[in-house]
Amino acid sequence: MSIVILGIESSCDDTSAAIIRDEVILSNVIANQSVHSEYGGVVPELASRTHQQNIIPVVSKAIKDAGVKIEDVDAIAFTRGPGLMGSLLVGTSFAKGFALARDLPLIEVNHLHAHVLAHFIKESDDDTDQPTFPFLCLLVSGGNSQIIVVENHLEMEIIGQTIDDAAGEAFDKCAKIMGLPYPGGPLIDKYAKEGDPLRFNFNKPRIKDYDYSFSGLKTSFLYFLRDEMKKDPDFIEKNKNDLCASLQKTIVDILMDKLIKASKDTGIKQIALAGGVSANSGLRSAIQDHKGWVTFIPKFSYTTDNAAMIAINGYYKFLKGDFTGQDVVPFARLNF
Ligand code: KG4
Repeated sequence: MSIVILGIESSCDDTSAAIIRDEVILSNVIANQSVHSEYGGVVPELASRTHQQNIIPVVSKAIKDAGVKIEDVDAIAFTRGPGLMGSLLVGTSFAKGFALARDLPLIEVNHLHAHVLAHFIKESDDDTDQPTFPFLCLLVSGGNSQIIVVENHLEMEIIGQTIDDAAGEAFDKCAKIMGLPYPGGPLIDKYAKEGDPLRFNFNKPRIKDYDYSFSGLKTSFLYFLRDEMKKDPDFIEKNKNDLCASLQKTIVDILMDKLIKASKDTGIKQIALAGGVSANSGLRSAIQDHKGWVTFIPKFSYTTDNAAMIAINGYYKFLKGDFTGQDVVPFARLNF
């Protein structure tokens, strides 16, 4: 018997709903919120209000695109956290209402676990390009930078994480310092392709074990540019490509150093990438070119926030009978 799960994701600024049948994706609808672009970052109250407007049409479209009927849905999975409280409340309340109305099991999902499990979403029944256990996952997004040992679908352990800014934040904040619009990560990637990564040398932090730190890089980048601009006010414009290439190389090197150390120490050679920063071309090549690793990078639409990953996580919890009560509340800072 196959199992149909409706997944709901509303942790930040994307409203998403997806339908999977077992591990195969049937639909994944994402409504992005353009309302934040003029503010240079996500405005929580505006995000909640937009989720409220989007959630019903997004779920209706996901059910329609999947070619299933609402009666076919066996359970509803939703992001309980971490994320913005107001945004999480919209998805959580919708999921509770849907479960209650249709008398279905309710499944809470940790957004970060779901990012890791995005690797198991199948495009079709014969899609077999998936990691086997155990594997290491580098989860790099706007809010997280973590190295995770994944033991099985539901058991994972963070062995290293950022002690300050996340990798995506480092990209975005350095881009902002250069006067680039938010989110700056994709733009740095774009300009870096035309630049010399060895032109400028930025210091790498010395942090213990597998942990990361990116705030020092941001500060030294700021002071470096300030000093250069005193000499030449057009310094950034003239050197944009080389600055982006050198900055990107530094961030990628920082990420890779700890990942290589974790792989050596644990003996795990299957390496997966997850989160929005896995779109970065420098990071992708560094991981794929590393000798001796088998690497897994999910499709771009499954690296950024999406409900397909919530649905697949819900599927594995469904198999275990791991359901949630109607008294569940969202958590902005959900422990891993
Ligand atoms: O996972 P995600 O969509 O959501 C958040 O955690 O917010 O990640 C978004 C982050 C942003 O910081 C964005 O700048 C970064 O991923 N990002 C990139 C690239 N594409 C997205 N960073 C560097 N290079 C890229 N190509």
